[in-house]
Amino acid sequence: MLDGKQIVLGVSGGIAAYKAAEIVRLLVKAEASVRVIMTKNAQEFITPLTLQTLSGNPVSTDTFDLTQESEIGHIRLADTADLVLLAPATANLLAKLAGGLADDLLTTVLLATTAPVVIAPAMNVHMYAHPLVQANLQKLAGIGHHLVEPGAGELACGYEGQGRLAEPAEIVEAARAALTTKDLTDERIIVTAGPNCEPIDPVRYITNRSTGKMGYAMARVAQQRGAQVSLVSGPTALTPPRGVDFYSVRTACEMQQAVLAAYPQATMVVSAAAIADYRPATVASHKIKKGAGGFVIELDRNPDILAGLGQQKGGRLLVGFATETQELVPNAERKLKSKNLDLIVANDVTQEGAGFASDTNIVTLLDRTGRVEPLSQMSKEAVAHAVYDRLLLLKR
Ligand code: CTP
Repeated sequence: MLDGKQIVLGVSGGIAAYKAAEIVRLLVKAEASVRVIMTKNAQEFITPLTLQTLSGNPVSTDTFDLTQESEIGHIRLADTADLVLLAPATANLLAKLAGGLADDLLTTVLLATTAPVVIAPAMNVHMYAHPLVQANLQKLAGIGHHLVEPGAGELACGYEGQGRLAEPAEIVEAARAALTTKDLTDERIIVTAGPNCEPIDPVRYITNRSTGKMGYAMARVAQQRGAQVSLVSGPTALTPPRGVDFYSVRTACEMQQAVLAAYPQATMVVSAAAIADYRPATVASHKIKKGAGGFVIELDRNPDILAGLGQQKGGRLLVGFATETQELVPNAERKLKSKNLDLIVANDVTQEGAGFASDTNIVTLLDRTGRVEPLSQMSKEAVAHAVYDRLLLLKR
């Protein structure tokens, strides 16, 4: 969503301006072309040279600089932008924008652009809570600007509370979301993600190698495309995307309960979790002590959650993930049919650049119409987009 996009990053003068360096780095990593505009005060906190070096593009600072105007032109910057991102946005910048002022390059570009605008405010806790600042934010949200709320915590001014610039990764996600077509607004999607942990005793459990990355990407992309998302997740190290309903579970049975509770309202289910097929038949209430010989754990079968949903499907679309190490397509085809699915994402986890901890995946999509489409190696986000594109085709 960001690759090849022209992002204008407006940096205004607050201590969080130094974080603009990380935002530029993440945008460039996502292959966006970044043009930075700094207010006069922003340059007191971070130098244009830093952002110029990281973005690989000249940094604009002044509307009336003859060299800059001839090379860039403020109207051209406004016209060519696919998105304008303000991070950090100070109370002063918000007030100017809400009041329609254009007294420097950044505010001029903001009035002249028709591109979406994403605003990440950062300021002192009392300033952020001030009714005038809040009124300005509401006004800006009211005209369709996207807000990335500041986080709460220790602020540079010594206070605790809300006002800290949102994390750079979150700001970049918001930029991505603002550029995404909202074609899933009619959908309520349950996504399962991560591993299960099946307890043996109070200190031990059985689990698998799932990190949740694929499932979280499925949830994030669905949310960005406008769906209402319930993310039911086993234990992972990941932060749930903002705006999704999040249910934290451990065992397969807990996961089934959470999924069934949301199922009546759901229009789609994406089962990306690596659900445990077995659980220890008994869970010891105290730590099991070692003996002289070996040790055998008896396992009971867990329910097949997706197969159960397939039996009471109604008009819903069901998506499974087939994790395989051999016979990829035949195994996936069998699961598609036996679980009554609409789409299965077949994933050979033995391939380099695919599977559990990887940021990329190499998958083959098989759908109920018999279409088999191998996809090249791509990010898990891109896989998620391909899956939703296919589901929308199946809905027609
Ligand atoms: N699945 C499920 N409940 C289970 C096991 C798996 O709902 N108890 C779901 C997974 O989330 C996935 C799909 O079924 O979307 C296929 O999972 P996979 O582990 O590949 O296959 P299994 O059906 O468990 O078959 P096997 O382990 O024999 O390969």
